[in-house]
Amino acid sequence: MPLTLAVEFIEPGVRLITLQRPQALNALTTQLLGELADELNAAQSDHNTHAVVITGSAKAFAAGADINEMAERNLVGILDDPRQASWQTLTRFSKPLIAAVNGFALGGGCELAMHADIIIAGEDARFGQPEINLGIMPGAGGTQRLLRAVGKSMAMQMVLTGEPISARQAQRSGLVSEVTQPEFTVERALHIAHSIATKAPLAVRLAKEALLKAMDTDLASGLRLERHAFTLLAGTRDRDEGIRAFQEKRRPAFTGE
Ligand code: HXC
Repeated sequence: MPLTLAVEFIEPGVRLITLQRPQALNALTTQLLGELADELNAAQSDHNTHAVVITGSAKAFAAGADINEMAERNLVGILDDPRQASWQTLTRFSKPLIAAVNGFALGGGCELAMHADIIIAGEDARFGQPEINLGIMPGAGGTQRLLRAVGKSMAMQMVLTGEPISARQAQRSGLVSEVTQPEFTVERALHIAHSIATKAPLAVRLAKEALLKAMDTDLASGLRLERHAFTLLAGTRDRDEGIRAFQEKRRPAFTGE
């Protein structure tokens, strides 16, 4: 039983993970990151899970790595930090991951949101990388993913000043795809997750892989990967089923084959 998060199965095919350390605005401890990694591994190997939504509370998605825990770690502790393995699990997760963000998404919390494929934010959400105020810098993608998401000028401003941006600014910059009223953020994210969960799983998986590849490769290599994935899908039963269902004017029944 995880202690720092709650997991709900929402039919069909969606898991909702809610971070639950309200006393510390969902600050990310080693335990929380480990429990999150365990849940993602479980979701990864469950054939009936097609998408995952991750969220926090109304006040905070997550206010960063737990600073009190950080205070206890010396350099050696940081280098062989078990949290690194948890972040790797997040990076490797190959099913669709949607973050529903209300309140603070700061430091490691912003980096956690950026591990998601889609971010839906409540109007009151604040995204920031305040590590510079602690004499450190982002360490879980907050320079690399942030720059790719919002561009150089905004990323420099956020990381070098530590000042957060609003949900609307995050949307204008491309970090967030939709802004909702805070009470509907999770509902909207679940709606998107359900929509994805009805698609052909192999197509979703390869499309995600190809889109992520676009962030770190040249155009020619990306196009090669895209063509390869497209060709692979041409041999699937779900492709036949999708086309037949269109012609027969019915909903496709995908099986993941
Ligand atoms: C531990 C935290 C915390 C954190 C908040 N709390 N953030 N505890 N680690 N990151 C705790 C507070 O100490 C407080 O506990 C309680 O949560 C409520 O927070 P308040 O500060 O009272 O709330 P508020 O005044 O509304 O201010 C909210 C806040 C502020 C602006 C988010 O808490 C804040 O600045 N937090 C730190 C944000 C930060 O610097 N994050 C980056 C961390 S470094 P008590 O017991 O006093 O009630 C990082 C590196 C990632 O993330 C590296 C990845 C490899």
